[in-house]
Amino acid sequence: MVEHEGDERLHTTTVAKRPDLLPVIAEWLWNEWWKRWGRSLEETQAMYAACRAEIGAPQTFILVADDTPIGTVTLARKDLDERPNLTPWLAGVFVIPERRGRGYVRHLLEAFDEACRRASIPTAWLYTNTAERVYLRAGWQLVETIDRPAKRSVTLMRRDYPDLPVSGVEHDARLG
Ligand SMILES: CC(C)(COP(=O)(O)OP(=O)(O)OC[C@H]1O[C@@H](n2cnc3c(N)ncnc32)[C@H](O)[C@@H]1OP(=O)(O)O)[C@@H](O)C(=O)NCCC(=O)NCCS
Repeated sequence: MVEHEGDERLHTTTVAKRPDLLPVIAEWLWNEWWKRWGRSLEETQAMYAACRAEIGAPQTFILVADDTPIGTVTLARKDLDERPNLTPWLAGVFVIPERRGRGYVRHLLEAFDEACRRASIPTAWLYTNTAERVYLRAGWQLVETIDRPAKRSVTLMRRDYPDLPVSGVEHDARLG
């Protein structure tokens, strides 16, 4: 969907449709998280290159302002080792530093919601220790605080999608 914010033309695309943007977003996410977690940039890029499901997880979305990529989010099959049975997850939410604080994340969260509804996913999950307020504003609910040995505790959140479209597409947790 194309939206306008001021003079800017905003749209959300996917890694599947814009593989040329993959190196850019992989580098953002590598610098933000994966480097610290011991992955190489090449491994990170390969991981997101695989996030190209047509329906359901794994899918990586990219927010583009005019022709510039400015953010990303992933619909992931798994994300938190402490909750291996929950799926799917909202993961890798990122807006480039120079665009933060202007609500761009909303467009990423809306693209994520739309993908969940399209895949008839009843409930999605996320964990955070920095951005609860962003997700509460977007309709997510707090579930619990999870204490983790030798790591920071995290907040588990959920979003339910009760108004499922009659699409005939069944959610399959094995997808992605
Ligand atoms: C979290 C993030 C995606 C939010 O995106 P955004 O488009 O800036 O979202 P918003 O404009 O709604 O602002 C979110 C919050 O950041 C604050 N903020 C304002 N300017 C900011 C800036 N320059 N840098 C960081 N945060 C800023 C806002 O005041 C707002 O605070 P609040 O939620 O307490 O009200 C973005 O800050 C980001 O990419 N952070 C690094 C990665 C990250 O932490 N991801 C979330 C992992 S769970």
